[in-house]
Amino acid sequence: NRHRFDASDMKLDDVEHITVLGAGNMGHGIAEVAALAGYDVRMRDIKEEFVQDGYEQIEWSLGKLAEKDRISQEEADEALERVTPLVDLESAVEDADVVIEAVPEKMEIKRDVYEELEEYAPEHTVFTSNTSSLSITDLSEVTERPERFCGMHFFNPPVRMDLVEVISGGHTDDETLDLIEELAESMDKTPVRVRKDSPGFIVNRVLVPLMNEAAWIVEMGDATVAEVDSTTKFDIGLPMGAFELADQVGIDVGYHVLEYMHDQLGDAYEPCPVLVEKVEAEELGKKTGKGFYDYEDGGADVPT
Ligand code: 3HC
Repeated sequence: NRHRFDASDMKLDDVEHITVLGAGNMGHGIAEVAALAGYDVRMRDIKEEFVQDGYEQIEWSLGKLAEKDRISQEEADEALERVTPLVDLESAVEDADVVIEAVPEKMEIKRDVYEELEEYAPEHTVFTSNTSSLSITDLSEVTERPERFCGMHFFNPPVRMDLVEVISGGHTDDETLDLIEELAESMDKTPVRVRKDSPGFIVNRVLVPLMNEAAWIVEMGDATVAEVDSTTKFDIGLPMGAFELADQVGIDVGYHVLEYMHDQLGDAYEPCPVLVEKVEAEELGKKTGKGFYDYEDGGADVPT
């Protein structure tokens, strides 16, 4: 099975096994999307408790989708059965046709993961990264298959968001981009090809500075969290207020993206200190029960 076919020959029909690295917010959401599309999914994280948490989140989410009649209970049960949570990297990737990496948004962590991955992944496997901002070219150069490497960037929550950015690195070949776009379509997503591998790509280049500016407005005492959110939600027409969105995405994720954009693109992207404070206090948003809003009681009504 390891050398079934050349990567360049791989077509969508050949893709059966998908490995998602990372079982956090994005990882478990992507694993869920892939399982709903009928793929055999292995979801890997470095600790048993992380994969178990991610698995439970998938179970919760599938239950919600069934409750809201977006899918049937049978579809939910079948999707869950297709997901195998794992800690051992070798068993997680031994059959992988496509790997979707969704580990923390830190260059050093991702580089280490790719180095280790290269040891165990079959030759034909296509590598993709769900990075929110980091250079696809730099990440691809850690591997021995930079031409079969691209960005596959989902949005939070993956199961509800239609868009996927498919990002070309400096070495990515067209066959890989075509395959990953078709893969996104097979998951009922709308892929958008991002030709230039620039920090934050397209969506986060627009969205993350918006969240940062919202934080600066509050930091400078010009408006409250509630005022900013009601304006961004009801006047500008975003589905969520800027702070609600930061809590949804994870304040740490937004902060890491900003740090990188600041480093690569300049001072206009300087992270607001309140983001640093929230990250240090581990008030990261919905996933920790508290961010700009309090979620402990299951509600998001009280701005902090
Ligand atoms: N799975 C299943 N159900 C979920 C869910 C999930 N992952 N997340 C939330 N839900 C449930 C809620 O619990 C709620 O259920 P309840 O009514 O029983 O409490 C229900 O979905 C809400 O869904 P609705 O359709 O009624 O509500 P909305 O119409 O508000 O839709 C939304 C929810 C689709 C999340 C919408 O608010 C939205 O589009 N928000 C914007 C999100 C966004 O912009 N994401 C991109 C962020 S940027 C990013 O991710 C990039 C990264 O790199 C930083």
